[in-house]
Amino acid sequence: MEQEPWYENAVIYALDVDRFNDSTGNGVGDFPGLIERLDYLNRLGVSALWLLPFYPTPNRDNGYDVMDYYGVDERLGTLGDFVEFVDAAGERGIKVLIDLVVNHTSDQHPWFQDAREDPDSKYRDYYVWADEPPTDPGKESVFPGEVEDSRVWTYDSEAEAYYYHRFYPFQPDLNTANPEVRAEIYKIMKFWLQLGVDGFRVDAATLMIEAKQPDAEKSDDPYDLLRSLKSHAISKRRGAVLLAEADDEPEELQEYAGDDQIDLLMNFVLNAHLIAALATERADPLATGLDQLSALGTNHWANFLRNYDELNIGRLSPALQDEVFDSFAPDPGMRIYGRGIRRRLAPMLEGDRDRIELAFSLLFSIPGTPMILYGDEIGMGEELSLPGRIPVRTPMQWSNRHNGGFSTAPEEEVVIPAISGGQFGYEQVNVAAQRSDGDSLLNWIQRLIATRRESHEIGCGEVAVLETDGESVFAHRCERRDSAVICAHNLSDEPASVTLEADLSPASSMHQLLGNCTDIQRTDGRIELSLEGYEFVWLHVHEETFDGDD
Ligand code: BGC
Repeated sequence: MEQEPWYENAVIYALDVDRFNDSTGNGVGDFPGLIERLDYLNRLGVSALWLLPFYPTPNRDNGYDVMDYYGVDERLGTLGDFVEFVDAAGERGIKVLIDLVVNHTSDQHPWFQDAREDPDSKYRDYYVWADEPPTDPGKESVFPGEVEDSRVWTYDSEAEAYYYHRFYPFQPDLNTANPEVRAEIYKIMKFWLQLGVDGFRVDAATLMIEAKQPDAEKSDDPYDLLRSLKSHAISKRRGAVLLAEADDEPEELQEYAGDDQIDLLMNFVLNAHLIAALATERADPLATGLDQLSALGTNHWANFLRNYDELNIGRLSPALQDEVFDSFAPDPGMRIYGRGIRRRLAPMLEGDRDRIELAFSLLFSIPGTPMILYGDEIGMGEELSLPGRIPVRTPMQWSNRHNGGFSTAPEEEVVIPAISGGQFGYEQVNVAAQRSDGDSLLNWIQRLIATRRESHEIGCGEVAVLETDGESVFAHRCERRDSAVICAHNLSDEPASVTLEADLSPASSMHQLLGNCTDIQRTDGRIELSLEGYEFVWLHVHEETFDGDD
């Protein structure tokens, strides 16, 4: 039997080391602090960690402005601490994925400094220059409203030329078409793979492969870069995984994934549709999202409800965007870039435990690898007084002690203050309190993770959306060999009774994997069930007549 890749039945946990746990009392989270919390993560049951950038950085974009690819920012520890961490994670069977930020560097990176000072430097061609910026660049900044005029070319007086940047002006784009730049990227990957990481989250993959030079044609095969990343990664470490940030049109996404390139794609399409289904309390946006992706196969997705950036709903229809904004970001201060929401999940759902569970249950039952943003497992909130995308990046809330147990430093010295006071403050929402409460969200998420990890039908099976006779109920079946998981989620607060065309044979057995639905009946291969508002159920069906795939 073919071995399934580990990530198909995995749960990934995204965290920012400097917001997680401070072991030294200097107000910044660090690697020794993260090591102290590995048992927490192990008990939660996550299979892999995705570490946000931790490299030396001027830190003007949460570390996504890297000035040295071969080190650890001194605020977070040393390279030795990093290796200790990888080792300690490995001992617990937890994989480590790190952010590979090579679409651009910091303007403080020595390559850029050399490039601007010396036109004959070999580093000049590491970046993208123009004497005059194109009159119509055809592109705008990824951060409209934050970058003046949304420009993507900035004049550098030292270089006496314009350089290209899709992000902030302090993040010059690397010329990824230059073979020498590619060689640098392979070397960076090799370095971290040798230190034991299991793979990379490839930052801005969509932008890495676009034509950057003003006069460049789109290459015939822009994806060759991604294939070469994969082949270099696996030549250094068998099974190394690439998880790409590819926020692209659905029809383009097919090109990213494949046996010899990207393993997992962050599923922005489904994220927006899932959020739309929650906001509208209707099943059809979710069915539409899955339909858009159905051509691409089901096993390449990393699904999420929230990540540490804005929640991008820009690819939904304008009418649906309005509905989502009205429900989840009614105040303009909750929105960003005209396309996004700068909030965490729990406050968007008004802290309603039933809805939060519903949202996680959907996330975990949809084919693909679920990803959790640190703190969402306890229902952390956001701090909207912080600028840009920072509101969702406040420190992890461990306890009701000073700074939420994140750091012993005076509050004014902490990297960002922990959220204090109110419904989502650390006094109310913290790990310690939820640990000792058997009914807490944390303990429920822990059970959900365990259930998902053992449900290989979801991780590796074929998905089919099931017809139902209720517009608020989303039902689907994940089938693998001779068993299936059938799920029904009632998105609305009104009770709903539905009939699912489940095509069960009389010989099949069925039991509830998740949920406490008391009204379920089988008739002629159909399932009839009644769900309370926001209720959901996962049913495990063992079916003699399913076609095996092995
Ligand atoms: C990351 C952002 C970051 C940007 C620039 C994005 O792909 O997700 O958080 O600001 O890259 O590096």
